[in-house]
Amino acid sequence: MKIYSSNLWTILAFALVVFSCTDPAEVTPELEDKKDDKDQAEVAIPLRELFKDYFLIGAAVTPQQTDLGTAHGQALKTHYASLTAENVMKPDALQRVKGQFTWDNADRIVQFAKNNNMKVRGHTLTWHSQSPDWMFYDENGDLHTPEVAMKQLEEHITTVVSRYKGDVYAWDVVNEAMFDWDPNGQIIYREDSPWYKIMGPAYIDSAFVYARRADPDAKLFYNDYNSIFSWKRNKIYDLVKRLKDNGIPIDGIGLQGHWSVNTTESDLRTTLNLFRELGVELHITELDIPVYASNDEPGSTEYNSTFSFRQKVAYSMIFNVLLDYSDIITNVTFWGIGDDHTWLDKPGRKAFPFLLDEELKPKPVYFEVQKLVQKR
Ligand code: XIL
Repeated sequence: MKIYSSNLWTILAFALVVFSCTDPAEVTPELEDKKDDKDQAEVAIPLRELFKDYFLIGAAVTPQQTDLGTAHGQALKTHYASLTAENVMKPDALQRVKGQFTWDNADRIVQFAKNNNMKVRGHTLTWHSQSPDWMFYDENGDLHTPEVAMKQLEEHITTVVSRYKGDVYAWDVVNEAMFDWDPNGQIIYREDSPWYKIMGPAYIDSAFVYARRADPDAKLFYNDYNSIFSWKRNKIYDLVKRLKDNGIPIDGIGLQGHWSVNTTESDLRTTLNLFRELGVELHITELDIPVYASNDEPGSTEYNSTFSFRQKVAYSMIFNVLLDYSDIITNVTFWGIGDDHTWLDKPGRKAFPFLLDEELKPKPVYFEVQKLVQKR
């Protein structure tokens, strides 16, 4: 942690007072690591505190979780400095019917963030998925002309970004536009996206222009997954380079961070070094590390010491790297709050992908990460 030694002494003194004067039963339960390492009482430093000198730490949320009367609301307030709507700011949530916007759910998240001194990342304005059919198809089921589709894209982006002007500090303007698996780098764009089918990559450029026009102060991001792999990072690099060279307003790249316990340090560092050359900000936008070593590994509904060990190794490596790049990484957002709610869970196969457990208490891996931050 980048702290001065006097602060360090204050923290140590505080810890000493807590340990010497407090009956163990009185220690706030969420600050205890109950799952293992039982004999090693540790005090969790809230994540937003822990990372405050490096980057904003965030979580993806549902509107229901943004309620201080719930454990989720309390965990959010304690740990996170940035919120992303897991689903309710996507096009099909905000404009399911053409011309009819539904704001209630998104507003709830934005209001909670404002009340609790958090930033909001907007996710997402332009995507092939979770977007209403009317954006792409006419009443006969045929793709719109480029003119019609572009106009609708402009209206959607302008309306949404204007509503949250000043409240949403960064937008994922375009999500997942690059082709995913193509070792030879022949296929650049996701060609099965209806946006691409209608007008090729032109929608990408325009989306950024519309967003900038609606809120000149919002940071504008291109967001994608698998971005640490050679076959994709080069495409993302080329895209962002082209946008910048053409004067298209883009401020950053979002790396989704759906990584694994096998993610390699060299894939991460190579990618971060490459993206550094673009002179853009980087956000890790959807971090989650499931406990399985492969898709073939049998599923479990119990967290065990093997899982814990793997996550300690993986998360330590990952956060060490992210801290090394904290001059360009300005936000690291988990794709959920704690292990009770994650899009990765399947029946009989829980993913346990976060630092907080199903009760939103710090897991052993949390303390591992805490230690490495404190050592810096
Ligand atoms: C996921 C949500 O977590 C799920 O609840 C939903 O059913 C599908 O979308 N990449 C993204 C996110 O950019 O929007 C996705 O979120 C996960 C993958």
